[in-house]
Amino acid sequence: MSKQPAFYIGDIPIDGQLILAPMDGLSDASFRWITRKLGSAYSVSEFINTLDYANQKSYEKKRLLYRDGERPFAVQLLDNDAVRMAESAARIEEEFHPDIIDINMGCSAKSVCGRGAGVGTMRDPQLVRDMFRLVTQAVSVPVTAKMRLGWDEVSHNFIELSELVVENGAKLVALHGRTQKNSFNKPARWAPIGELKRRLNVPVIGNGDVNSTADAKRMLEETGCDGVMIGRAAKANPWIFSWRDRGEVSVQEVYQMAHFQLEDMIRLQPERGVMPFRKYLKAYLDPYDLPRPELKALLTSSDPESLLGLMDKTFLSLGAEVDAPEIIDYSEIYR
Ligand SMILES: Cc1cc2nc3c(=O)[nH]c(=O)nc-3n(C[C@H](O)[C@H](O)[C@H](O)COP(=O)(O)O)c2cc1C
Repeated sequence: MSKQPAFYIGDIPIDGQLILAPMDGLSDASFRWITRKLGSAYSVSEFINTLDYANQKSYEKKRLLYRDGERPFAVQLLDNDAVRMAESAARIEEEFHPDIIDINMGCSAKSVCGRGAGVGTMRDPQLVRDMFRLVTQAVSVPVTAKMRLGWDEVSHNFIELSELVVENGAKLVALHGRTQKNSFNKPARWAPIGELKRRLNVPVIGNGDVNSTADAKRMLEETGCDGVMIGRAAKANPWIFSWRDRGEVSVQEVYQMAHFQLEDMIRLQPERGVMPFRKYLKAYLDPYDLPRPELKALLTSSDPESLLGLMDKTFLSLGAEVDAPEIIDYSEIYR
């Protein structure tokens, strides 16, 4: 008998309760693919700023690239203009065929929320209503929301705004248990996630400070939420989506995955070189306490071939086998 989905987004079944959180500069196509192979239940793109998308002819389409095997795939939109967002949503649906459109109500970067986008939308219920009404009219796929608790401590309006977005067609709400003012500093609060779950009749995803499988389990148990989004902790441990903590992952697995990721990132964005990969490599190597000069050489190497060579050497010295059969076959071409 096949397993029941964990929850549905509209009529899309979602298998699994752990999901990679969208992260600008981190949840790119390669990393999302890896996390999906390791168990993340669906994918959300880095935010697409529809101000840029609407106005720049050469908009970075790479941010919208995904593999078919990544489905369900959500494109996340960010803007402070509901009409422009809805028009962009329709174009994106036509050109890129995502399964879901997600609306960003959480980005706390000053340049974003200062103009009333991201968490800035949480100060403007009329804008939120218009965004959800117009975007759901413009596309045929389910629309979801990702928000924070509110702007600051005296304006926790996540319940009323969640109810508003659901009234206007949203099929899921992901809640990050912080305010704009908290940015990323204060610990995330989970009790509001439970409060929201009890109020809404669509799935609720909890988010914030899930750093281990025990945290994920505790968030699910304490709040009753339908799924858990994991952001920063996934950078060092994408295996968390297989319900495995970093200490349980072998050097061989780390080696094979890092190798695939570097090659895939270069394939996808050759013009950017190895730079964007370094932040992951640093996180993957952190537990091994490498001698400083060795680590420095790895993290400053700028030629993909030389870096792969250095990685082979390091991982061999840590006990990996360079020619061993693949533990996970990550290979799948882009559409
Ligand atoms: C570098 C970085 C980039 C982010 N970019 C996005 C984004 O594009 N869209 C979004 O909704 N949230 C974004 N976030 C917020 C995360 O999705 C998540 O809500 C937050 O990191 C809290 O989860 P965590 O404690 O598991 O990291 C970003 C966070 C980080 C650290």
